[in-house]
Amino acid sequence: MPKVFDPFAGGGAIPLEAARLGCKTYGNDINPVAHIIQKGSLEFPQKYGKPITYSNSEFTKLYGEKAFRNIPNEWKTYHFR
Ligand SMILES: C[S@@+](CC[C@H](N)C(=O)[O-])C[C@H]1O[C@@H](n2cnc3c(N)ncnc32)[C@H](O)[C@@H]1O
Repeated sequence: MPKVFDPFAGGGAIPLEAARLGCKTYGNDINPVAHIIQKGSLEFPQKYGKPITYSNSEFTKLYGEKAFRNIPNEWKTYHFR
């Protein structure tokens, strides 16, 4: 996979999407607030969060049958066990 570096990453949308696609990503910003936002959206969930996976019944219980039927197949590959 390509490596992605966004030197002016702001809120981190480009590194986030690149990481979601499986790239090794790097973000940078001169603004310390943007830097903290990037840490909160890119780094901390991977470091401290749980993987977002559901069984079919867990998802249905949380979001309902209709939401379950509307999930794209690609999304199911990543988030269902
Ligand atoms: C338009 S925003 C970036 C938006 C981002 N690429 C996105 O898709 O969400 C531009 C960012 O560049 C940062 N910036 C401006 N000059 C900079 C510099 N010399 N070094 C690093 N970051 C800089 C600003 O703080 C700002 O957050």
